[in-house]
Amino acid sequence: MAKQPTNPSGTIPKDLKVGAQTSAEQEIAERMRHIKHKIVILSGKGGVGKSTVAVNLATALAWKGNTVGILDADIHGPDVPKMLGMEGARMVGGDKGLEPVVGPLNVLIVSMEFLLQTADTPVIWRGPLKMKIISEFLSKVNWGNLNYLIIDLPPGTGDESLSIMQLLSDLDGVIIVTTPQEVALLDSRKAANMVRQMSVPILGLIENMSGFHCPHCGEVTNIFSKGGGKQAAKDLNLYYLGDLPFDPRVMLLSDEGRPFIVTDAKSPVAEAFQHVVDRLLERLKGQH
Ligand SMILES: Nc1ncnc2c1ncn2[C@@H]1O[C@H](COP(=O)(O)OP(=O)(O)OP(=O)(O)O)[C@@H](O)[C@H]1O
Ligand SMILES: [Mg+2]
Repeated sequence: MAKQPTNPSGTIPKDLKVGAQTSAEQEIAERMRHIKHKIVILSGKGGVGKSTVAVNLATALAWKGNTVGILDADIHGPDVPKMLGMEGARMVGGDKGLEPVVGPLNVLIVSMEFLLQTADTPVIWRGPLKMKIISEFLSKVNWGNLNYLIIDLPPGTGDESLSIMQLLSDLDGVIIVTTPQEVALLDSRKAANMVRQMSVPILGLIENMSGFHCPHCGEVTNIFSKGGGKQAAKDLNLYYLGDLPFDPRVMLLSDEGRPFIVTDAKSPVAEAFQHVVDRLLERLKGQH
């Protein structure tokens, strides 16, 4: 049965169906039964690096020999295809459902971008349609057997975030990405509260763009304040997964569709990211 919000006085819509599983929910449950770990990447504020974390996490896990899928649940701003160099690819129907696009290291990718006529086509949809397409991405796609499914969300606590948390009853949990500014931290609190209202575990918090690592002199300059993420994690009683420095090559490689975690593996940001992945894997081990 779809997950229901636990706080009746919260802002989460209350007109959500309660009762027996629908056929869509049964189809989702059947598909998801073959996926061992499901991890959602969320943030309160936009542009903090969710998609960057999602594609590099998927790539890092695939690099370790896992079978990995990535669901780009950002319907209005699907960035995952570009970040994995798969822009222009198309999903096609097969005997077992809609076939994901196969990306680098055999990462399976599903994104609204693969269904649009051109990358410039805007999606002008209201909530119910967005919820339907997300449900179909889970129920109609031939994900097969996977070790990990990474789900990249748009910013905030809107329809897409709500749909994913309702439809997936066995999520391992959510990773919250933040940057160190007060406004991002404030929005992270809201995101954490929303996830808790939905009774979904929070795997931890990542502080991104936590300091500028100068590629010339090697020095780290704190562009924003430093340590806000760690403090916010403490205040909110969240596990701190670590921080990632600001590095201009992250953006350049991302625009070229080459995740830094493998293409720039010796850089400080890749090493920091690897540390985050290790902590995450430890945490997942502890949960099971
Ligand atoms: N550590 C970093 N160093 C430098 N640039 C970064 C870093 N992390 C992310 N970026 C860049 O910042 C921009 C925003 O990142 P990204 O698209 O991952 O954020 P997002 O949270 O997914 O955004 P949205 O909310 O719009 O979905 C991108 O151009 C990305 O390459
Ligand atoms: Mg994004």
